[in-house]
Amino acid sequence: MKLRLVQWLVCPECGGGGLTVEPGRTERRRVHPGHFTDHEREIPGVDLAAGVEVEVLSGALHCGACRLSFPIRGGIPRMLPSGGRAGPPTGHRLTTIDTHEPAWEENFRDLAAPLQERDFLGRLVLDAGCGFGRHVLHAARYGAEVVALDNSVDAVESTWRNCGQLTHVHVVQGDLLRPPLRPSAFDIVYCFGVLHHLEDPHAAFRSLGDLVRPGGRLALWVYGPRAGLTRHVSNALRGLTTNMEPDELMRFSAWIARGLRVFSHTPYRVLNRVPVASQVVSHLPVHDHHQWPFDVVVADVYDRLRIPVRHWFTGEEIERWLTESGYADVHVTRRVRNNETFRAIGTRR
Ligand SMILES: C[S@@+](CC[C@H](N)C(=O)[O-])C[C@H]1O[C@@H](n2cnc3c(N)ncnc32)[C@H](O)[C@@H]1O
Repeated sequence: MKLRLVQWLVCPECGGGGLTVEPGRTERRRVHPGHFTDHEREIPGVDLAAGVEVEVLSGALHCGACRLSFPIRGGIPRMLPSGGRAGPPTGHRLTTIDTHEPAWEENFRDLAAPLQERDFLGRLVLDAGCGFGRHVLHAARYGAEVVALDNSVDAVESTWRNCGQLTHVHVVQGDLLRPPLRPSAFDIVYCFGVLHHLEDPHAAFRSLGDLVRPGGRLALWVYGPRAGLTRHVSNALRGLTTNMEPDELMRFSAWIARGLRVFSHTPYRVLNRVPVASQVVSHLPVHDHHQWPFDVVVADVYDRLRIPVRHWFTGEEIERWLTESGYADVHVTRRVRNNETFRAIGTRR
């Protein structure tokens, strides 16, 4: 954990901002002064002249208001509210990112649209429900200071492994519903592929909306309505799988992923190259996941089959949420990649 993260943290229990860090094990990391724009101000933990920054690998954060403490383990502040449960294991606990793989960046740009690379430069950004950090990497590469939040141990540890070395990435374990983050602090909050898996997505949406500063943007990507075969097959499978042990489910997911490769991804890849067929292929039950490495497909299948909750939204519903929460310039766009989903973005008044 970098010491400058504290300015954006609050106690998830009482909301107090007076947190102090008690460092245990620390490490000095090289930083390039060019990473920092404000050279006049003293930046906590950073020695610009020496080009080093202190990283707190273990220790604790103490709340001056309610006296609660939160451990820092493996470089990550663990800030779940009391009584809050860590999220379950995720399939992506072993996923590493091939940082040269263009598909990751295309996916980020696609979900973040209409936000573009230049919108991230110099901005404070929250990745809400960061998973293994596939989007964190690109927001940081585009010049943002990124806070990556997730309630799952697997997720925050894999994001740390994949992106924790980057100067402008901070990883926090916390709950979206009671985030340990300062209200109205962020220029951009994005939340991709998360709300539809929560018990109370509207409550999580409101909590995210409060983190955006006036004039800042909230960007979402959620599932749209599912119909027909996809819905029935996935519901039937999940009836079997939500109670499986993690190892058993991982093996099962690997078999499903092999089946998808043969019967869905490969036909897609082949048909997509044929001029007329490529027009038709997006309407067939084959999937564009052919572009992902096999371990990513396994992990995605695992996560889909493990998660007990799934909501489907309409574009109107998401638009209403944003406008009712005081967001202007709301745009909801339909995105169809085999299934219907929605991208939504608004600017906080
Ligand atoms: C389907 S994954 C999406 C991950 C990432 N956004 C991506 O697109 O790769 C959903 C993520 O939301 C996280 N999550 C679920 N409920 C959460 C909560 N209440 N607070 C924080 N994170 C949560 C899960 O642990 C998981 O990493």
